[in-house]
Amino acid sequence: MVGMTSIRERRGLDEAAVRDHFPALARTVDGRQVAYLDGPGGTQVPRECIAAMTAYLERCNANHGGAFSASVESDAILAEVHASGADFVGAGDPDEVVFGPNMTTLTFAVSRALGRDLHPGDEIVVTRLDHDANVAPWLAVAEDRGATVRWLELADDRATLALDRLDDVLSSRTRVIALGLASNAVGTLTDVRRVTEAARAVGALVYVDAVHAAPHLPIDVATLGADFLVTSPYKFFGPHLGMLYARRELLERLAAYRVRPAGAMLPGKWEVGTQNHEALAGLLGTFGYLEALGAAYGDSPDRLDRRGRLRAAMAAIRTRERDLSLASLGRLSAIEGVQLYGIADPERVDERVPTFSFTLAGHHPRAVAEHLASRGISAWDGDFYAHELIRALGLADLGGLVRIGLVHYNTLAELDRLDDALRELSR
Ligand SMILES: Cc1ncc(COP(=O)(O)O)c(C=O)c1O
Repeated sequence: MVGMTSIRERRGLDEAAVRDHFPALARTVDGRQVAYLDGPGGTQVPRECIAAMTAYLERCNANHGGAFSASVESDAILAEVHASGADFVGAGDPDEVVFGPNMTTLTFAVSRALGRDLHPGDEIVVTRLDHDANVAPWLAVAEDRGATVRWLELADDRATLALDRLDDVLSSRTRVIALGLASNAVGTLTDVRRVTEAARAVGALVYVDAVHAAPHLPIDVATLGADFLVTSPYKFFGPHLGMLYARRELLERLAAYRVRPAGAMLPGKWEVGTQNHEALAGLLGTFGYLEALGAAYGDSPDRLDRRGRLRAAMAAIRTRERDLSLASLGRLSAIEGVQLYGIADPERVDERVPTFSFTLAGHHPRAVAEHLASRGISAWDGDFYAHELIRALGLADLGGLVRIGLVHYNTLAELDRLDDALRELSR
């Protein structure tokens, strides 16, 4: 809360106050302050996260379910982080939140559990826009169970999904649709609500990958109509973890792969083995940071509950990022040789998050990333596991794309540095 309440009357996030919460942002390499434009691969964490993680290890480092104080305190933290996670995604029930090592592992676990009810002739829908972590597990389970895979293809712009062809891929045999809320490669937001409505009409379940959306906007599983929704806290200012929401009825009904003594209680039924408690404590610190941000920027903060504070934080972040998106679009489109992939029209800025992928004529994406690194700018290159999209763009053998990923702690000054560095190459 410190450093934020004092600035609540101002419009827009206070850049300096926000950045002060993230110690990594002060890092210098070769005398240059590092510009972290690598958020889609994992964001930096606030002091609150680091402090909570350290405090856990210093004071209540213990396994689950013991009679002694460290274990009791540890369990209280675990209960609290489930409740906060539920509020973060708009779930009504802390037991609807399941943690795991990462999104990929959780998705393999859920897909295998769902697979137990799949039969030859059943259908699973996956998309060409998704990260492979929301494709490969479904392809594998379809193969295991003799189910048929249907693909929701890209639209002609190769930046959005062809939702107008949704009815062609759905049928009474569709059991699951797996799709993303935001593309980690080109930043497109997908109208998940439209898909869940169509899925409901044919009785299919919807598994939403919100990993890339989570650092950028408020998430509400009820509004989206998601049956499952998965995020990775390390992409939204937390430690390396995965976080799954699923409707309680599904978590109870589906048969998880688990050890027998784990029992059928939620969420333990799905949280197999010992969890990363210190990381979960750290995530609670991250939620604390976001709550403080929401209290500082939300309307009537005194009347906001935790869900309200988290929502307000993400709404303030979304507003801030809109400006960063518009500035990025303007700058990148003005550099000779830059070909931007994804929605480039500033009028459509609300259909995307500030993740910008491009090629620079005459330069391999890795060479561009190396040049940026030499200027103190962290940026990713490659396919980002958006395997199908990169192939559809014809870039699989060309090193993929350079990706600039902005989050709320990034600044216009960092975009200026990016602009300068890219112009050095494009000259
Ligand atoms: C959109 C998206 N989905 C899924 C994943 C995989 O997440 P995790 O590393 O938690 O398994 C990523 C990671 O890059 C991602 O960006």
